[in-house]
Amino acid sequence: MQAEKALNTIREEVRICKACKLSENRKNAVPGEGPANAEVMFIGEGPGFYENEQGKPFVGQAGHLLDQLLDAAGLKREEVYITNVVKCRPPKNRDPEPDELSMCRHYLDRQIEAIKPRVIVTLGRFSMARFVENGKIGALHGKARLIDDQLVVTMYHPAAALHQPDLKGTLMADFAGIRHLLEKAHHIEAVRPVAVTQDLVKTKENKEPENIKPEQLSLF
Ligand code: URA
Ligand code: SF4
Repeated sequence: MQAEKALNTIREEVRICKACKLSENRKNAVPGEGPANAEVMFIGEGPGFYENEQGKPFVGQAGHLLDQLLDAAGLKREEVYITNVVKCRPPKNRDPEPDELSMCRHYLDRQIEAIKPRVIVTLGRFSMARFVENGKIGALHGKARLIDDQLVVTMYHPAAALHQPDLKGTLMADFAGIRHLLEKAHHIEAVRPVAVTQDLVKTKENKEPENIKPEQLSLF
């Protein structure tokens, strides 16, 4: 299967990557995990202590909270794809730096391209910044936008709720909306042929088609 092959290639490349200085102190790079046909992809920030030990994403404290959130949202961990914007642990869990984000970016791009998830959930600000410039998480969390045929929904990082317990309820509520977004994503798929047909009509007759409007998405 094409997507699986692409993901395996990416995994192998990441495991031995030395493109940025985060390779210097890592024990294990963390490419990400989940099935190649996952409909939902979660993108965190970068591996922490336990992830670096095990080579797997979200297996520490934030990972336990992620498991609870997935459970509450009716999603199984085995059916979603989980990864990060940087694949190696920043020392002392510091923020990833611009050169590191930039060198690592193509791995995530290729993972998205291979999996083509219907819904992408960004966890935290670095992951959000990958899709939304200058976004404010306080205003944008739980809201989805259509970017390159994918619904992208921005959420707080689960680790934030470990420090600010109030945020747990917010995260729970935002996660609870994921199933609904998936249904919406299926709906987008269903209306897409209309948009394509409209384009074809326009090209063929060289005029605006009348009375055909692809359904508007009101996601915000
Ligand atoms: N935090 C992240 O952003 N990613 C992980 O994989 C673990 C903790
Ligand atoms: Fe390579 Fe990304 Fe690891 Fe840097 S963080 S060494 S770019 S895999």
